[in-house]
Amino acid sequence: RAEDIEIRAIIDEHAEMEGPLLPILHALQEHFGCVPQAATPIICDVLNISRAELHGVMSFYHDFREVPAGRHVVRICRAEACQAMGANALADAALSQLGVAWHGTTANGAVTIEPVYCLGLCACGPAAMVDDKVVGRLDASRMSELLKEAGA
Ligand code: FES
Repeated sequence: RAEDIEIRAIIDEHAEMEGPLLPILHALQEHFGCVPQAATPIICDVLNISRAELHGVMSFYHDFREVPAGRHVVRICRAEACQAMGANALADAALSQLGVAWHGTTANGAVTIEPVYCLGLCACGPAAMVDDKVVGRLDASRMSELLKEAGA
């Protein structure tokens, strides 16, 4: 398959580096929008690591996805200052509006929701980020509007 050939080429390109795993994962994600499942056996084989090790690395670095993100990524701050301003309730409402869990993507592919730990807007929490735009002083209705604007 064409995808397998591309995967193989990307892996081979980095395999000789020192510490090749992260560069390979980044390159795959940049190319495919995720680290495709089909890459797992090839990475494990080329780098001589187990599936469990690969999985451990992918889940440690929250940046890597197994499926591509939705058209918009909404990140809700879950760090302390925002929590003190009601971020948990805000997050619960957002998740239930979207009908997904953290890291999930709405069925229409519009919105992926991710937790984030401090956006540097602690003084105006609760804060979130919609794609690359930060938004502060959120409340449930503003959050709901943002999600609708994003197409959820
Ligand atoms: Fe939320 Fe810093 S704690 S922006």
